[in-house]
Amino acid sequence: MSDIDDLELSLSAAIAAATDEAALEAVRVGALGKKGSVSELLKSLGAMSPEDRKTRGAEINGLKDRVGEALTARKAVLKAAALTARLAAETVDVTLPLWSSPANEGRVHPISQVTDELTAIFADMGFAVAEGPDVESDFYNFTALNFPEGHPAREMHDTFFFQPKADGTRRLLRTHTSPVQVRTMLSQKPPIRIIAPGRTYRCDSDQTHTPMFHQVEGLVIDKTSTIGTLKWVLEEFCKSFFEVESVEMRFRPSFFPFTEPSMEVDIRCDRSGPEIKFGEGDDWLEILGCGMVHPNVLRNCGLDPDEYQGFAFGMGIDRIAMLKYGMPDLRAFFDADVRWLKHYGFRPLDLPTLFGGLSA
Ligand code: PHE
Repeated sequence: MSDIDDLELSLSAAIAAATDEAALEAVRVGALGKKGSVSELLKSLGAMSPEDRKTRGAEINGLKDRVGEALTARKAVLKAAALTARLAAETVDVTLPLWSSPANEGRVHPISQVTDELTAIFADMGFAVAEGPDVESDFYNFTALNFPEGHPAREMHDTFFFQPKADGTRRLLRTHTSPVQVRTMLSQKPPIRIIAPGRTYRCDSDQTHTPMFHQVEGLVIDKTSTIGTLKWVLEEFCKSFFEVESVEMRFRPSFFPFTEPSMEVDIRCDRSGPEIKFGEGDDWLEILGCGMVHPNVLRNCGLDPDEYQGFAFGMGIDRIAMLKYGMPDLRAFFDADVRWLKHYGFRPLDLPTLFGGLSA
């Protein structure tokens, strides 16, 4: 066996034995590097006769080519093996549940969740979110909303009043979110399109009433909105909120001092089974009050009723939360019982969006 065959055998063995790219690189340098075994052989050609050089040259160059090819092939194998090993070692199982942590253990209260849900729906229709204080004056809660002094509608609100001040005026806890209508119209120019979710207070308590509860107010003021627009907005809202294809709504005439005409809205539902179903059945369920903003209210807020018009609606957040998620007793909402919250609460990362699903 010639020295070239020997060298080839030992280099092939070394290449096969290299278990990573660094080891293989060492073999390459040892063979084809400046002082490598194959390079040294090539250097020896210079001292040979032309005849010898021809045959030896061809042999050595053949060796060099084969060693080069073997190195390249081995390198590809090692690279692929390294990648496979890395992919296996760095695997992340994205289906694993979160580690137990406060973010996982905590629960979002249904009121907060439902407020986020309806905000997502109305935001998609172009409504902004407005806010007002819980402690109001008689002007914002009643007078500006066209409740005349001594009008029986004031009595119906079971208002919590504070002690009168020296000048005789008394603050109160707002009995509805409608004062935010007044604050909005006094502070911004039409077109106005807002919702105002928030806490409201009335001296009342039973299975479906608590002294503190939540409402969301809607207000649209421009030059063209009609009852038709109002009906469309409410219908779209109900479909999105209850996550049904269609809802049938019934508008009944009603009275609110701040709207004319005023209506109460019922939706068709089926209460024969264990759960309420919307959009079918023979029952009707009242879910909100609404109407066209009364000209007196527009005037009280500095708007000319011959130029501007619009509509308002108000509904109980707690009530629609109870309906949607089947919670029987409103008082439990405010008991701060962690067992209740664990059962009815929402995971903090389940943010309601229209594209991701409201209650998915
Ligand atoms: N503020 C009314 C209530 O609490 C609801 C309502 C709001 C009705 C807006 C009409 C328009 O009873």
